[in-house]
Amino acid sequence: MNFIPFNMDHNLKILKTEKSKIQDVDFNNFSFGSVFTDHMFECDFIDGKWINPIIKPYQTISVEPSASVFHYGQAIFEGMKAYKDKNDEVWLFRPDQNFERINRSAVRMAIPEFPKDLFFEALTKLVDLDRDWVKKGEGRSLYIRPFVIGNEYAIQAVPSKSYKFMIICAPATLYYTKKLKVKVADKFSRAASGGVGYAKAAGNYAGQFYPTNLAKKEGFDQIIWTDSNEHNYLEEAGTMNVFFRINDTLITAPTTDTILDGVTRKSIIQIAKDNGISVEIKKLKIEELKTAAKNGSLKEIFGAGTAAVVSEIKAFQHKGELYELETQNDSYAQRLKGNLVGIQTNELDDPHNWRFKI
Ligand code: COI
Repeated sequence: MNFIPFNMDHNLKILKTEKSKIQDVDFNNFSFGSVFTDHMFECDFIDGKWINPIIKPYQTISVEPSASVFHYGQAIFEGMKAYKDKNDEVWLFRPDQNFERINRSAVRMAIPEFPKDLFFEALTKLVDLDRDWVKKGEGRSLYIRPFVIGNEYAIQAVPSKSYKFMIICAPATLYYTKKLKVKVADKFSRAASGGVGYAKAAGNYAGQFYPTNLAKKEGFDQIIWTDSNEHNYLEEAGTMNVFFRINDTLITAPTTDTILDGVTRKSIIQIAKDNGISVEIKKLKIEELKTAAKNGSLKEIFGAGTAAVVSEIKAFQHKGELYELETQNDSYAQRLKGNLVGIQTNELDDPHNWRFKI
């Protein structure tokens, strides 16, 4: 990826921690998103401007109970990762895509956009400062979570006048450690047409917790969401976009206003094309999927997301009927994941210039 020139006028302050917590972390034994690095980035939007950018030791923030985020949910976030290669160089993967998406989410949620130069300066300096937290090895990376909250102390149902933009980082391992069994939604919905499904709005995730908990009680790991009008078309899985391999064609839903425009999704589409795999971006009906499962032409289903990377799905259930998939010798999921991770970790060539060196 081309280096973005930074405008250094922001006076990004850096306060380093006096004592790193890294020695206290058992990197072989922690769950995704539960441990945070030594530093964080914080910047406030006050009186129409993003001001006071600072990198400082990871710590609590203080907000009054009237802060608008608690009442009207003006909150958006991003998910991205840093990888360490065998020479200990640290790389981001397509960070320009996350930058563009957080501002698309911002526009939809009536949140002010964040400046590109400050985003990149904060991101690169923060990851550089905490680079010891980026571990090498299968499934290991540093998960980076930029987010914005409305924090005006007022409870009128109007957009907040002040905001906090932050970046926190968490060492990451595999998000899903086994093949998944999913339920295809036939009652609840994740997103409706005209709504905020395409934005990485915090509420999109909260709204899935209850139906996903119900599905988990029935023995499923996740839900594949369908369109909210008729529950006919397969959309996404909430933590990841989904791909279906029917015969030798890879099919995924187009990114409409109800589907997140996943960075991993678009990378997998490109890598599949680079591998000569036929890709169709089209709306797929659950009935077509069931027919393909019954006649044996459905070979694979997998999810793709930053946290999930490429996660294979071994079975799906729809309206009480369970369909199980056989393991493929030439698995597209495995091949595409290998290529993707190879590019992310600087093991493979990067023909599309996606890597960004810290
Ligand atoms: C990501 O993959 O970055 C996401 O935001 C999904 C989240 C549920 C961890």
